[in-house]
Amino acid sequence: MRVLVTGGAGYIGSHTLVELLGQAHEVCVLDNYDNSSPLVLDRVRKLTNGAVMAVEGDVRDDVILSDVMSDFRPDAVIHFAGLKAVGDSMTNPLGYYDVNVNGTLRLLRAMNAAGCTRIIFSSSATVYGEPIYLPYDEAHPLNPTSVYGRTKLMSEQILTDWANAGGGSAVILRYFNPVGAHASAIMGEDPSDVPNNLMPYIAQVAIGKRAHLNVFGDDYDTPDGTGQRDYIHVVDLARAHVAALDYAATHTGARPFNVGTGQAYSVKRMVAAFEAATGRPIPVVIAPRRAGDIAAMQADASRARQELDWQATHTLEDMAASTWAWQSANPDGYRSAND
Ligand code: NAD
Ligand code: WQD
Repeated sequence: MRVLVTGGAGYIGSHTLVELLGQAHEVCVLDNYDNSSPLVLDRVRKLTNGAVMAVEGDVRDDVILSDVMSDFRPDAVIHFAGLKAVGDSMTNPLGYYDVNVNGTLRLLRAMNAAGCTRIIFSSSATVYGEPIYLPYDEAHPLNPTSVYGRTKLMSEQILTDWANAGGGSAVILRYFNPVGAHASAIMGEDPSDVPNNLMPYIAQVAIGKRAHLNVFGDDYDTPDGTGQRDYIHVVDLARAHVAALDYAATHTGARPFNVGTGQAYSVKRMVAAFEAATGRPIPVVIAPRRAGDIAAMQADASRARQELDWQATHTLEDMAASTWAWQSANPDGYRSAND
């Protein structure tokens, strides 16, 4: 299949390119490198010996979208491009609605004009909001508590109406907590600033860039008092997109899928796994709870298993070991010059 990958230079997009090329799909990336770099695509080419066409541009640019559609003629689009920092979304709501919602809308218009009817969309477990029950299944009420979460929910609604109206296919993947890196250790997560997320923060403590991890609360109603999440290895997540492409080829309408392991680990458990993978101590300081955090969440991933024929295979140890292999080989991320 010919697959247009918006945001393909990003963390999840780049790992997905590797899996797509491994399955002999043809890919074209559209990315403005707002949170990534073209260096990432060089690593993908090096790893796969594959052709990675790339167009530098904004997903809200109608002219670029129209040109890409007519030049590349994709059979399907995977739409990763977007802004993802929950805290920033609260201080810059219009910027987030513009990139994430308006970007999705313009992309769909360009797809309509080109007759492209299949899209795989990066949604998030954050659309569920405060759990009414756990594990979350796809029928759980949707009540996001941040602007970021609302941009994802609105995009899901637009995609659903689009698919129902025009006979298109929209596969909505609700990611849980993506972590880890490619086994080659030449690709991984490369935060441009102080990491917001747990795993990259722990990795920077291990490498000596940060003195300690702040554990945001140890008085939650969980077995060890720290927050629990459903961490999913990025390579498993990438493979879910390949499965979703096959699904989209044989189904119309919109369908959401949880993409998680179904297993929740606490912050303390993650620290212990990282200490075991690195052989280094990770100093921690117990800090106040982070505003907006929930105690625990995990996926019911049975729909993806049954309908996409997909399930996670990587373990917690794989997540920690691959993160460390990437971080230690590339202490400055993609700026570590070893090409
Ligand atoms: P990322 O920031 O690494 O990747 C996003 C990519 O989109 C980047 O390469 C960025 O340069 C590009 N981009 C941003 N704005 C753009 C625009 N206007 N036009 C073109 N390109 C643009 O993030 P990621 O972690 O790979 O996330 C990918 C998608 O998955 C995002 O939509 C994100 O909201 C969603 N998601 C991420 C997580 C997570 O924890 N990483 C969880 C759930 C959902
Ligand atoms: C995990 C756990 C923290 C950092 C976020 C977004 C979500 C999705 C994934 C995009 C929590 C604790 C963290 C630290 C800590 N992104 N923690 N010290 O908050 O579950 O999800 O990323 O869609 O929308 O909200 O992930 O990695 O930030 O936190 O103690 O320095 O680690 O309190 O329990 P989160 P996270």
